Amino acid sequence: MRVIGIESSCDETAVAVYDADLGLLSHRLYSQVAMHQAYGGVVPELASRDHVRRLLPLVREALADAKSDRESIDGLAYTAGPGLIGALLVGAGFAASLGFAWGKPAVGIHHLEGHLLAPLLEPNPPGFPFLALLVSGGHTQLVDVAALGEYRILGETLDDAAGEAFDKTAKLLGLHYPGGAALAKLATSGRSNRFVFPRPMLDRPGLDFSFSGLKTAALVALRGRVLDDAIRADVARGFQEAVVETLAEKCRRALEATGHRRLVIAGGVGANIHLRERLAEVALAASAELYFPRAEFCTDNGAMIALAGCMRLAAGMYDGRFINARANWELGGRFDG
Ligand code: KG4
Ligand code: ZN
Repeated sequence: MRVIGIESSCDETAVAVYDADLGLLSHRLYSQVAMHQAYGGVVPELASRDHVRRLLPLVREALADAKSDRESIDGLAYTAGPGLIGALLVGAGFAASLGFAWGKPAVGIHHLEGHLLAPLLEPNPPGFPFLALLVSGGHTQLVDVAALGEYRILGETLDDAAGEAFDKTAKLLGLHYPGGAALAKLATSGRSNRFVFPRPMLDRPGLDFSFSGLKTAALVALRGRVLDDAIRADVARGFQEAVVETLAEKCRRALEATGHRRLVIAGGVGANIHLRERLAEVALAASAELYFPRAEFCTDNGAMIALAGCMRLAAGMYDGRFINARANWELGGRFDG
């Protein structure tokens, strides 16, 4: 079973070829970040138009890299949501048309399912079931993953996503959008106890998160100060520690509550080294194994969509009759105990 995966939910156009027996054969990505940077965030209409320009060349390149052609492809997978609706429609329409022309099924994939399964692209992949911390620019969720397609949300953010908090605070620190990785880099030269930010929601039971207060705390810390490199680095450090400590404590509680012995980190913020190190300690203390994808598969990519599509096609878990694009789409049912 060999599947071509297409991701176009936001500001990355990505295409990959995944083979059930041979693993990942190729992956290509074009990032629109430079185009959107002038606006300080993603401009949806510009994103859609650029996906139109990039998709076909990327598919050609990914197929050539994988030494594959249409005959060797068994199906197509595309991100069906959630995301920017125009951007999603470009990928969905493209994949469905190609599938129709080639006589192959086109499967719509939930973007977060892609992120959740991304650690399965690595050697020594986790088996089911596992607990996943999904931390991206748009989502922050703790997910109980029983099997493919069986997801239960244990907790989620009540306001900003972790990545969004990183990006907003990075902006306050004068870093370009999306500033998460740049903030993390700045934090490495910061001092640990100069600024101690609140650890949101740790004083309450439960597994939900709240990050919107942190950027306000960062704003207050910066107010009236000369923004030299040392202050910026110290604030970055204090902010990152507050986010990481909060995520780590919720993971600890979730491991305890579920009894899971596998913890998966997925999504763009999962590329954060400090978060990985803290979660390694949490996992060790809970006698659990920690799994995460390589950094380039933490952020948006086509490989995770190709993999999820391959798994769904192999299991017969798809409906290829419709062109599926949904801006808002829950991953799984909410579990309230
Ligand atoms: O998963 P992703 O590529 O896109 C969404 O589906 O949202 O995540 C992007 C997010 C951005 O907010 C970005 O700033 C953040 O991940 N990010 C990081 C790091 N690398 C990317 N945040 C903290 N530390 C990093 N090293
Ligand atoms: Zn994503």
